[in-house]
Amino acid sequence: MKRKILITGGAGFIGSHVVRLFVNKYPEYQVINLDALTYAGNLENLLDVKDKPNYTFEKGDITDEAFIDQLFEQYQFDGVIHLAAESHVDRSIMDPLAFIKTNVLGTAVLLNACKRLWKDNTEGKRFYHVSTDEVYGSLGEEGLFTEKTAYDPRSPYSASKASSDHFVMAYYHTYHLPVVMSNCSNNYGSHHFPEKLIPLAIYNIRNNKPVPVYGKGENIRDWLWVDDHARAIDTIFHQGRTGETYNIGGINEWKNIDLIRLLCTIMDKKLGRTPGTSAQLITFVKDRAGHDLRYAIDATKLNQELGWQPSLQFEEGLEKTVDWYLANEEWLQHVTSGAYQHYYEQQYQTR
Ligand code: NAD
Ligand code: TYD
Repeated sequence: MKRKILITGGAGFIGSHVVRLFVNKYPEYQVINLDALTYAGNLENLLDVKDKPNYTFEKGDITDEAFIDQLFEQYQFDGVIHLAAESHVDRSIMDPLAFIKTNVLGTAVLLNACKRLWKDNTEGKRFYHVSTDEVYGSLGEEGLFTEKTAYDPRSPYSASKASSDHFVMAYYHTYHLPVVMSNCSNNYGSHHFPEKLIPLAIYNIRNNKPVPVYGKGENIRDWLWVDDHARAIDTIFHQGRTGETYNIGGINEWKNIDLIRLLCTIMDKKLGRTPGTSAQLITFVKDRAGHDLRYAIDATKLNQELGWQPSLQFEEGLEKTVDWYLANEEWLQHVTSGAYQHYYEQQYQTR
């Protein structure tokens, strides 16, 4: 019988890359994508795998305990890769409770369901929690986050992810649930919702709109190509040690303003604009409340234990990302108009 792997949040940015990787690489698995299809969930991200025989989509909310219990009963999952979350820091500042509900309660509901299902036999079972480096707080000019860095979350988003990480480890220590976890730096690539810095900037430059840079643009992020994250998840899911955490990062720190300037240069070239045209759209705006200064990951453990390393240089990855957005204007148009949210009704409910 096929191993049944539940991937939560598979219609989102990173989740869709993980679903694609697993469906294509492991025909011996049945991949079940569970997603509530919030504003961030888009089934148009998965058009290329939607008809594969080893792929199934289930619409549902991870905070709905009765629904989750019924789903676990129905499928008898062998593994869970948990990505479903509210993921945007600015939204968490406006509506923290939504983040507590999905990220903390939703994770606990899934942990409980696994505990119940696997209570008699955890052989070959695994709950993989996908988390963020933002749980470690903010770095100064020096140093890197390691797996031993103390948690120090500053935003409602990172506080909710930190809380969910603690619940995952609590279920490991208390109930011996076979968990593994990773904390990753900022991702970029295709299918990224245009509320985060890179896709928002590409969209605005394309449409000659102002590109908002918070504060002085001096905050630093460590950017990782999304498919390299998906590869790391695959590696850790299959080879990571139970009860361990692995940091994943790009070894690729950029000040926001330098990144935006590079993006403007690439966009000028791709759009045939005179050099310097797009940079005129850069607009410094009010800083984000509690804006973390710097994130940077030490991924030595993942590299030395499991041999993972990033595959793509940032400039190359950024060019590929721009190319994807320029070639997929219909996707962007659906996402920005809200049209993508009708896709589910058309494709699934009428079957
Ligand atoms: P995303 O916002 O693009 O996608 C989240 C997905 O979860 C969406 O498809 C949404 O519909 C779904 N979802 C939200 N609430 C749900 C609920 N209650 N029940 C079921 N599904 C629900 O997020 P992303 O950027 O792809 O991030 C995925 C995971 O990776 C998150 O856990 C995030 O914390 C983590 N992460 C993200 C980054 C990053 O740079 N984006 C970096 C490190 C870790
Ligand atoms: P974001 O993509 O929201 O990711 P995170 O906050 O999780 O790191 O933001 C990346 C960086 O870019 C962060 O320092 C905030 C900044 N930023 C802007 O300057 N302008 C923007 O419009 C956005 C969305 C982010």
